[in-house]
Parts: sequence; structure tokens; C-alpha cells
Amino acid sequence: MSRDQRDTPYLDAVLRYRSAGYSPFHTPGHKLGRGAPEGLRELLGDPCLQVDIAMAGGVEDTRESTHLVRLAEDYAAEAWGADRCWFLVNGSTSGIHALVLTLCGPGDEVIVPRNAHKSMLAGLIFSGAMPVYLEPAVDPLWGIPLTVSAEAARWALTEHPAAKAIFVTSPTYNGLGSDLAAVAAAAHAAGVPFVTDQAWGPHLRFCPELPVDAMTAGADAAVVSTHKLISGITQTAVLMARAEGINLARLDSMVAMTQSTSPQVLMYASIDAARQQMATRGADLWRSAIEQAEWARDELNKLPGVRCLGAEALSRQGVASFDPTRLTISSCDLGHSGHKLETVLREDYRIAVEAADPLNVVLNVTYGDSHADLEKLVAAFRDYAGRRAEQAGGGSAAPTGLLAQAPAFTRQVLTPREAFFAPSAALPLAKCAGRVSAEMVTPYPPGIPVLGPGEAISAEIVAYLEAAAATGLKVHGPEDRTLLTLRVVT
Ligand SMILES: Cc1ncc(COP(=O)(O)O)c(C=O)c1O
Repeated sequence: MSRDQRDTPYLDAVLRYRSAGYSPFHTPGHKLGRGAPEGLRELLGDPCLQVDIAMAGGVEDTRESTHLVRLAEDYAAEAWGADRCWFLVNGSTSGIHALVLTLCGPGDEVIVPRNAHKSMLAGLIFSGAMPVYLEPAVDPLWGIPLTVSAEAARWALTEHPAAKAIFVTSPTYNGLGSDLAAVAAAAHAAGVPFVTDQAWGPHLRFCPELPVDAMTAGADAAVVSTHKLISGITQTAVLMARAEGINLARLDSMVAMTQSTSPQVLMYASIDAARQQMATRGADLWRSAIEQAEWARDELNKLPGVRCLGAEALSRQGVASFDPTRLTISSCDLGHSGHKLETVLREDYRIAVEAADPLNVVLNVTYGDSHADLEKLVAAFRDYAGRRAEQAGGGSAAPTGLLAQAPAFTRQVLTPREAFFAPSAALPLAKCAGRVSAEMVTPYPPGIPVLGPGEAISAEIVAYLEAAAATGLKVHGPEDRTLLTLRVVT
């Protein structure tokens, strides 16, 4: 059935609830704002508080009626090209958990990218599955992970015929995409379901000038964060799947297990509105965002010491597409870290970035930005590049030397789940070679784990981590972030 994508069934119901004048003998305790403390009222305002209710406690009835949600999800399924969609209130994180639990059980092999989001590790621990890693290359100039190539995916599918699924992250944080159609073809030839972590691609489906989206490319399932680049409020996401490759009934149960039993109706309403906006006006909105971002990229690249990643990324290993609305701007030639650049932009120019690492800052451009916003950004960089040029000998902070030495994956001795629950102890890092890691260790850059739970620790890895600690690289994952000690299985 073809639906009129201008409709917003869930959003409309929430608006109806607000004007119906119910006396709320249900959650939350502030009772539509009437009992809310002053500061909270000031922060959220009455229009928000008057619909701050949980799905089961108001918009329809108290019998956990899901008719409206399902209807809104069916509109989303049609818009994103899936057989079934689910609205998520705990981000793409929870969609990845639900998918891993649907597709894999204890000891099952699952093919996953080494630079997967950390929700994948939790999915592996929850399910007990055994990862087979696809290792993307690292761009030596930018220090960012590139994408998983179709050749690597084909190799893994051939070497691991029993794998229960293959996951690929595309686009990456920096907007780089894999050849999804080729991975889908390889997965289907092997009879293995193909899942795309498309957290950074909720918009792709709606504008032909953007990279191809997962469902068009043939994925069996995908998850998109509607809060990242489109108008869903923070924490919202959509999980989508096709019946041919995925057991939809089981996925439905897993979604229920990984979501709150009190989903916020504002979140659902915002997903409904975001879907409508994309399905009806997405192409135009994103065309103009692309134009703005390209303009800013060109202007930034004219400035001394400023470098903004562009379509040249398409020549890098494994990279088949590039989302031009993502601006990755290197701080290296400005002579300091991306973290310092973030602080300067925030404090001196009132510009807040999406993320910073030792080498770069990353900014999102969407249809919510005006040309004046992009002009402000370019003017800030112009001013700052001028200031840096005057400050001779600013020093270089770029720890790019370490990137080339990143040690390869060793061997998975235990499943992540076995290692996670095994007895463990924190040992001095120097004594860890030959042991099995109980934790994940991910230095930034490039944000690819050097170790995961259950993996053999080599002397090379110990030496690398010692160098990373000495250089002051930011390390995510271990209990002891100074890396003086590492937790190993005992
Ligand atoms: C590639 C990728 N996947 C999944 C997630 C999790 O998304 P969410 O924050 O919506 O839970 C993120 C978050 O940054 C991500 O970058």
C-alpha cells in the first residue's frame, strides 16, 4: 500500500492529546508540568511538559496499545524501503544490540568491522558470539579509519562460511562509505544476512546526490540515528529490516528487550515528523545543505594551514562513497591538536563542533544551517588561520608517526563474553604480553581497537600501547586510561 508521506499519524495524536484536557492520573509525577519545579518549567516550557508522557500511559490508552506506533513505523518502513521499521528510543546503540541478538547466539561467528561502534562490543558480550574482524585501513594523512572493502568482505565470507551475519559500518563518522551493493551481493551469494550500521546516514535515502543508502544497496537490515543528521530528537533512531533475510518476529522481540518500557512520546513524535520531512522535502533540503557544505569546504581549503577533507577521499582504500555534508578539518598544519582547535572555536568564535580528536575536528552541515552560519564558520577559520600565521613556531602536535605502527589484530582466544565474565586482574602493562585481554583498548586516532576482550596480547601491542601512553593519545575502553595497567584474564 502506498501511504501519503505528508501524514504524521503519531505526531497528530500527541498534539490531540495535549488539547484534549485529560486529568493525568499516570506517569510522570509532574503531571503535565503542573507540579514541575520552576527550573524545569523554564527549561522545557509548558508545550513540552504537557506531552511529557510515556507511550503506554496516555496517547492511546493504558493497554500498551501499539496501533499508532505501528502505523507510524509503517510509514517509516515505506519511506526507508524496508518491510518493517521500529522506532528506537535508545539510539542506534539499541538497534545494534537487537540485531546481534536476533542473528547470533553463543559461539556463533559474526563478521564485523574492527572500527565498529562500541555498541557492537556490547552486542557481542550480550549474545556470546565470536567476532571475525574486517580491518579497514587507516588514512595516514588524516588519521581516520577508512572503510571496509568489498574484497575484504568476500574474503571473510569465504573463510568463514558458518558466519551468521556480516555487519558493515557505512558511512563512517567522517562520511566515508563502503561499496554496499558489492558487499550485499557477496553476502547474499553466501546466504548470509547483511546488516549496515548506517547511524550516520539517516538522510541518504532521500537525496540522490548523497551516497546510496543501505536498503537501496540491498542490505537485509540497517539502523539509522534520526537524531544525528535529521530532525529526530536526541536518542531517537530507526531500525529497519527485510523479511527475506531477517526473522522479523524474533527481531521484534529483541527490540522490545532492548528498549525502555516507557518510551517518551516526544521521541516517537519527532521520528514521525522527521520521516515526513525527509520523505516529502528531503531531496531539496539536502541539495541545499550539500551546496552550503561544498562552498564552505572550498573556502576553508583556500586558507593557509586549513585542510578540509573532500571528494579526494574516494581514491582511498575501500572508499566507494563520500557524504559531502561532513566536514573533517585537520588541525595539524595549524600546529596543534583538534582538541585545541575545538576549544578555540568554542571560546573565541562561539562555534561548537561535533567532535574533536588529536588531529581533526568534525562538523555536521544539514538543512538546519543557513548560509550565514557557514559564512561565520569560514570567517572564524580565516581569522584564526591569520592569527596562527603570525604566531611563529607554534609547534606540531600531530602524533601521526604512531598511526603507521598500529599493530594488527592478533587472535581471538575467548569470545568477548567469556573474557568479559572470566576472573581477571589488572597487571602492569609491561607484564601483559602473552596474556589474554579482559577489556577493549581503543586509542584515538584512529579510533580502531588495538585490543578487545578475549584477544591475545602480543609484545608488539604492549610496545604500541606504551608509546601511545607516552605520546598522550586519548585511549577509550580500559579501566586504567593511563595504561599503566591493563586488565587481563587470569
Ligand atoms: C557508527 C555508529 N554506530 C552507532 C552509533 C550509536 O548511535 P546512537 O548514539 O544513536 O546510539 C554511533 C554513535 O555515534 C556511531 O557512530
